[in-house]
Amino acid sequence: MARLPVAVLGATGAVGQRFIQLLAEHPQFEAAHLVGDATAGRPYGDVVWRLDVPMPEAVRRQPVLALKDLERAPPGIAFSGLPGGVAGPVETRLAQLGWKVFTNARDHRMDADVPLVIPEVNADHLALVARQHGPGWIAANGNCTAILLTLALAPLHRAFGLDDVHVTSLQALSGAGYPGVPASDIVGNVLTFIEGEEEKVEREPCKTLGTLGPEGVRPAPIPIHATCTRANVPEGHTESVHVRLSRKASLADVREALSGFRGPDVVRGLHSAPKAPLQVLDAPDRPQPRWDAMLGGGMSVAVGRLRLDADGRGLRFVLLGSNTIRGAAGASVLNAELAFATGLL
Ligand SMILES: NC(=O)c1ccc[n+]([C@@H]2O[C@H](COP(=O)([O-])OP(=O)(O)OC[C@H]3O[C@@H](n4cnc5c(N)ncnc54)[C@H](OP(=O)(O)O)[C@@H]3O)[C@@H](O)[C@H]2O)c1
Repeated sequence: MARLPVAVLGATGAVGQRFIQLLAEHPQFEAAHLVGDATAGRPYGDVVWRLDVPMPEAVRRQPVLALKDLERAPPGIAFSGLPGGVAGPVETRLAQLGWKVFTNARDHRMDADVPLVIPEVNADHLALVARQHGPGWIAANGNCTAILLTLALAPLHRAFGLDDVHVTSLQALSGAGYPGVPASDIVGNVLTFIEGEEEKVEREPCKTLGTLGPEGVRPAPIPIHATCTRANVPEGHTESVHVRLSRKASLADVREALSGFRGPDVVRGLHSAPKAPLQVLDAPDRPQPRWDAMLGGGMSVAVGRLRLDADGRGLRFVLLGSNTIRGAAGASVLNAELAFATGLL
């Protein structure tokens, strides 16, 4: 089957390079239009490649396009790794031109008619795109920290209910894009404030875990309290989580709910879907970013250090996942695979 040509917006950034990596061997999608800003007009092969896998040969000679060049191409599928603020109007314009946009940026995530999708959790929300004014549409994936957290909360919310969630993140450098935070700020340090991040982590999981009805998405009423920090780690966001379950559970129940969590049938067969969205690690000192950020090809979230309070309702754990794959480019590609499988593309 011929692969569908797709555009990658922000193709030279931290997320954009992950798109290029993931699309190189993809069975359905092929990176055909690479869009940048400062690098526009140069061959992609001249751009500094910052991943620890080689740059795919197929993109080396492709030119980096400016956005105005893309607007002249026939509309199709676009993956957006544009900066927040820049992305909003660009994505709206592309959807008006007929593009189907899968975005990582914050701008449209909380729009009432834009689905905020994690296929294993809320595949049904993708149907919201039909409520947009067309001819194209926008589907979003969440903030990287929020996606990883939502995946771990989903089975707990379903099995036991969640009364309260407290989370403290230790987020990787790649989460700040390129060039990211200055070396002189982060070496030998932890940055204890990331502007705008805590609000996203507190709101976005409630939309994804919410219920889709005729009025749109009714957010799940889960109080989430977040503290977000940046640590001197190249890849992989770690999150220390403390939840209050609505119903009493045993540690074995919790372990079973997390490790047995699977998406619906339509999602399990998708190219980028990991066998286990959550991998429970039993070693007392795991997960750790150096060893566990790339489980399931970067699409699984590692969960460890499970501890249950004596009352059976206070649960503590540590989770970890790839911010640029499950938290960004891989999340968008999985959303597009779901759209393809359900006839939306
Ligand atoms: N990094 C993560 O882990 C992560 C996770 C989840 C979500 N996100 C979100 O994903 C988006 C991209 O993040 P990132 O970390 O990849 O950022 P980044 O490394 O700073 O990359 C930004 C990209 O956007 C391009 N760009 C900037 N302004 C543009 C414009 N006016 N027109 C066209 N292209 C433009 C840049 O092109 P040039 O290089 O040519 O200037 C570059 O390719 C952001 O919205 C971010 O919040 C990031």
